[in-house]
Amino acid sequence: MQVFNTIADLQATLKGLRAKGDKIAFVPTMGGLHQGHLSLVEQANQHADNVIVSIFVNPTQFGENEDFEQYPNTLKEDLKQLEALQVAGVFIPDAQQMYPDGFSTNIKAGHLAEGLCGEKRPGHFDGVVQVVHRLFEIISPDIAIFGQKDYQQLLVIKQMVNEYSLPINIISADIVREADGLAMSTRNQYLSAKERTEAANLYRILVQLKQDVLSNKAIDSAILNAKQSLAKHFKVDYLSVLDANTLSATSDNTTQIAILCAVFLGSTRLIDNIIFYPKQNT
Ligand code: PAF
Repeated sequence: MQVFNTIADLQATLKGLRAKGDKIAFVPTMGGLHQGHLSLVEQANQHADNVIVSIFVNPTQFGENEDFEQYPNTLKEDLKQLEALQVAGVFIPDAQQMYPDGFSTNIKAGHLAEGLCGEKRPGHFDGVVQVVHRLFEIISPDIAIFGQKDYQQLLVIKQMVNEYSLPINIISADIVREADGLAMSTRNQYLSAKERTEAANLYRILVQLKQDVLSNKAIDSAILNAKQSLAKHFKVDYLSVLDANTLSATSDNTTQIAILCAVFLGSTRLIDNIIFYPKQNT
């Protein structure tokens, strides 16, 4: 496994791989790797000859009072885990490589970034599409893998790829959960032991909400019940039940439903979602 700190070194190697006709899959990360990230890499391995992983804590996607400064850095351990998965290369640029002096971009997130996390974290998705577009420009992968855990991010990136006609196949990977249902996240490290136990209630309540929606309970009252249950354990940032393709209200044309939620547990923000098919009326 090669580690690249500069764009020039990475691109020289990628040129050689492409000359052999190799397919490149790309997994962007901010480090702090856990089994969820590793499952993205495993999926990438199935789709391409070579996998490139990036580790870059992107400052432009963090708000002023967010956790950019304390974002977990587990680089040594990350590299060991990636090596074991036979990753071809890890790109670890510094901010100067990613955003050299005078760097400017017009890349902005599309309308799918407007509600939910986009509303609660203004500017977040502009930062995400900016860094992902820049990484795509540098790496030109055939395939890129994103986790469904960040469902809105996944849709916003797909929208960006469509809008800019980038020849990159975006693949989504299922959420990986702990035994008690908590979705794996680098930020789970911030939880105290007591909070970690409490955190399992998030998925449990979302599963109940899914069952309520499938049993034809009125969506508004099902959401209200779920919000009341969540409020016993968390400060609710948002909870919505939407059309999973458009992130707008569900309708008769909805083919998949998304339950999307963000909560605070102490100062830690947790997000989770469930995507499912509506009940077929026979
Ligand atoms: O999902 C993440 O870890 C980040 O948003 C990403 C896609 C690596 C961009 O910084």
